[in-house]
Amino acid sequence: MMAKVETKEEGISPEPVEIKKTKKSKKKTTTSEKPFLETITGIGPTTRQRLETAGYGSREAIALATRAQLTEISGIAEKTAALLIREARVQFDLGLKKGTDYEEAAKTRVKLTTGSKAFDKLIGGGFETGSVTEVAGENGCGKTQIAHQLAVNCVKYLDQDVIWIDSEGTFRFNRIVQMAEALDIDPDTVLSRITVGRAYNSEHQMALTEEALTMVPNIGLIIVDSLMSHFRSEFAGRGTLAERQQLIGKYLAFIAKQAEIMNCVGVVTNQVSAKPEAMFFGDPNKPVGGNIVGHTVTTRIFIRKGKAVKRTASLTKSPELPDGKIEFAITTEGVRDFTSK
Ligand SMILES: Nc1ncnc2c1ncn2[C@@H]1O[C@H](COP(=O)(O)OP(=O)(O)OP(=O)(O)O)[C@@H](O)[C@H]1O
Ligand SMILES: [Mg+2]
Repeated sequence: MMAKVETKEEGISPEPVEIKKTKKSKKKTTTSEKPFLETITGIGPTTRQRLETAGYGSREAIALATRAQLTEISGIAEKTAALLIREARVQFDLGLKKGTDYEEAAKTRVKLTTGSKAFDKLIGGGFETGSVTEVAGENGCGKTQIAHQLAVNCVKYLDQDVIWIDSEGTFRFNRIVQMAEALDIDPDTVLSRITVGRAYNSEHQMALTEEALTMVPNIGLIIVDSLMSHFRSEFAGRGTLAERQQLIGKYLAFIAKQAEIMNCVGVVTNQVSAKPEAMFFGDPNKPVGGNIVGHTVTTRIFIRKGKAVKRTASLTKSPELPDGKIEFAITTEGVRDFTSK
């Protein structure tokens, strides 16, 4: 079944997303409470129905909406939109915060190990929950291998579920089995906790992401492998570039919001395009997707292929860590430290 994708306003429709209570999450859950819209005085059944139809039936969806989005719905006045958003944000705790609140939030962030100590150290202990990390690099550098390892590690170390949006058909259950066996965890348990959405085009990709995020109960990790392949092939001409960038921006921002709210790790893989003119001025390879991807992801890691199992990982963007570069290995067991024996 395919979920609806609304391409007009948010690019990705702000369907009601039920916030699950995890061990780490402090967010309130809506399940046993009165529906949000019924708690607001002055919102009658007609308005309620209109909001629900447009995908703004829940407190979470409204808390994350903008005034412009709500006033686009017929019959919703500016004042009503403002009231709804304010109330939803107060209830949902999305309003202004103190620096100390950030300190508290940081304590709930968890690091998901890569399997390599050197790699973990480079990125401050592992892939962090609450934001999106981009893993970029050329064909065969190991982006999908890293994704498999993170999926296994999520089940093993965080005891949480994985969403895998597969736009290239490269999810391999047997790699999960090999990596799980290497870590002494039952492969079937791991496989049963990974929900794979095979995306056949960009719209399908966005719909699957949304659907998976609302369906999977205890998300520790969401992987999009790869972010750009469909967008790249479908929006090939220059004329469609602006539209493409807008869609990607909204899609990524949606994933980032979800990663933050659910306090799960967001990972998107990305290819690089060779830029011949850059050959003499530093890096000839640039992650595709332009500035919008670079701006929206919180952390950016660049992988390069070395001889045999050897790989390098470079941290090129982080809000709190210095740039750096390390060596690691991709073996049959998975991601490991590189040793030159
Ligand atoms: N079973 C295995 N044992 C050891 N190494 C493997 C195994 N399977 C794959 N690899 C390594 O991983 C490489 C493929 O990496 P991967 O598929 O992750 O690349 P990628 O960065 O995702 O590429 P693309 O951009 O094409 O998707 C292989 O070339 C090989 O070096
Ligand atoms: Mg790949």
